[in-house]
Amino acid sequence: MRYLTIALAKGRTAKDSILLLEKAGLNCDDLKKDSRKLIFEDDINKIRYIFVKPADVPIYVEYGSADIGIVGKDVLLEERCRLYEPLDLGFGICSMAVAGPVSTEFDYKKTYRIATKFPNIASDYFSAKGMDVSIIKLSGSVELAPIIGLSDLIVDIVETGTTLKENGLDVKEKILDISTRLVVNKVSMKLDDKRIIDIIERLEKLVFGGGI
Ligand code: PRP
Repeated sequence: MRYLTIALAKGRTAKDSILLLEKAGLNCDDLKKDSRKLIFEDDINKIRYIFVKPADVPIYVEYGSADIGIVGKDVLLEERCRLYEPLDLGFGICSMAVAGPVSTEFDYKKTYRIATKFPNIASDYFSAKGMDVSIIKLSGSVELAPIIGLSDLIVDIVETGTTLKENGLDVKEKILDISTRLVVNKVSMKLDDKRIIDIIERLEKLVFGGGI
């Protein structure tokens, strides 16, 4: 039997992803050890786990290097990969929003410079509003951009709102709700449908039974 590969996003959702898989009956003992290892193999169930940057999860899954991925809807919308997305896992809940200095009034008729880690989501949003904006792509600490004068506004993830608040910013408009999703490679779904559907069903039961 070939190994099924599951790609997990490193970072803030990693712990919950492991907890969910464990509660679904998969063996995650090695994943919970504090280590810099990026690949783990469960030889009994023939499942391989890989840890990658969130933005790379859909890429590994689309190319078939991973059969299944667990990643945020923000990344899926930004990366625009062609994948099956069978399940909302119900954790990692946050939102994508336009934010800026508390003193800035958001006006649809104005032109803004927008700093963001999500240029595709931002440009889709402002185009739909008929707004003319210029987008500046950053890799992190986006909240700094309007403070230092690199941009007027930002498009970013808001979870607790603490980062905005502590930097004198507030939400101008919510763009969409985000949560963590299960994604599956389209060919894997055909080749290994039984094993993949079994994993989806176990996770589905957990999610509908109240989640983690
Ligand atoms: C994310 C996001 C915000 C922050 C929001 O950044 O980009 O900066 O979390 O969380 P909060 O509303 O609970 O404060 P992350 O911590 O992933 O780091 P980054 O800025 O380097 O992207």
